[in-house]
Amino acid sequence: MAKLGELRPVSIEDAGSVAALARDVAADLVVIGPEAPLAAGVSDRLRNEGFVVFGPSRSAARLEWDKAFSKDFMKRHGIPTAASATFHAAELAAARTYLRDASLPIVIKASGLAAGKGVVIATTLGEAMEALDGMLSGETFGDAGATVVIEEFMQGEEASIFAVTDGERYALLAPSQDHKRVGDGDTGPNTGGMGAYAPAPIVTDELLALARRDIIEPTLRGMAAENNPYVGCLYVGVMVADGMLRVVEFNSRFGDPETQVILPLLESDLAALLYAAAAGDVTAAGPTGSSGSAVCVVMAASGYPGSYPKGDEITGIAAAEEVTGVVVFHAGTRAEGERIVTNGGRVLGVTAISGGTDLGAVIGSAYAAVEQIAFAGAQYRHDIGARAAEHQKA
Ligand code: AMP
Ligand code: GLY
Repeated sequence: MAKLGELRPVSIEDAGSVAALARDVAADLVVIGPEAPLAAGVSDRLRNEGFVVFGPSRSAARLEWDKAFSKDFMKRHGIPTAASATFHAAELAAARTYLRDASLPIVIKASGLAAGKGVVIATTLGEAMEALDGMLSGETFGDAGATVVIEEFMQGEEASIFAVTDGERYALLAPSQDHKRVGDGDTGPNTGGMGAYAPAPIVTDELLALARRDIIEPTLRGMAAENNPYVGCLYVGVMVADGMLRVVEFNSRFGDPETQVILPLLESDLAALLYAAAAGDVTAAGPTGSSGSAVCVVMAASGYPGSYPKGDEITGIAAAEEVTGVVVFHAGTRAEGERIVTNGGRVLGVTAISGGTDLGAVIGSAYAAVEQIAFAGAQYRHDIGARAAEHQKA
């Protein structure tokens, strides 16, 4: 980012500081990326001051920051999702009884924000009870776990569908697929996302039409009808099985690392699209098609998604960017003089972009770039996009 524009350090969750910065630079458009400032009401403050803001209100972003609310909303509006029940801290006994009667595997979710780590898929009753106790006691996620959603485990393959919306009309971006587990072959704990590719062939035109009719449109209509219009990027995480779609989760923002592979495919101007949505008529941006393909491999620090060291020197980024079509997005890095050092769990998003559709070739470029980069304990998945590339060859 430092190469592209001026950096101004503000606390992004502090609405007053963000508003002061927006005034200072006379911002024409403010795009709020992550969920925490949305949940903190930064968009509301900026809108009240008259800025054009891309990003839902605090109360519309609740679709992400309160999973219990989100599940209730889907039930109210007949939006397909896993069966679930919600329990608060005072209902531990009832939650334990519910678990004893449930079939395995079973999914236990902290209702609040937990950086993509608040979900446990328990394969034994013991594991389920442990997750439940840890969350409801506040031990694992603090207040974010004081309410839990216990949910039926859905079989299938996941995909991410993003709709950029003015609250009524919307534009779909290329469907993508994230890789949430830390290890190759979808093993190990869930993370914020270890890699992605787009477009995802599993999301056929038929499935996209279903997503529009059964999920996106009823969601936008439902939010508007509840006086809670949703303006921004609606992230729909879906489970695909037997030609059907069910919602795994809503996010109130673009996804990470899906964004790294979706936005480069957009044929039109991103700023114009976001401005049009924020200003109230997304169709004003004109056609918003996507073409080509892209793959992002996340390089993470050792220990992630658990605790991890910071401050290790990263080498080879420039060499990686010499691979044709490669852009290295920085996620958890910091400049220390001339050196770049690690400063987060997910450190880099090594992304290869191509105008063509041969996913295997794009995967090859992404990994060729990854091999140029080194830092102590770097870990990454070796199979990003592999399943889709197999499908494509067949
Ligand atoms: P979430 O934060 O709700 O997206 O959950 C994180 C990840 O856990 C999802 O991307 C899925 O891989 C998995 N997951 C969540 N809910 C379910 C479910 N009901 N059935 C199967 N997998 C799930
Ligand atoms: N890639 C998942 C997320 O952004 O929540």
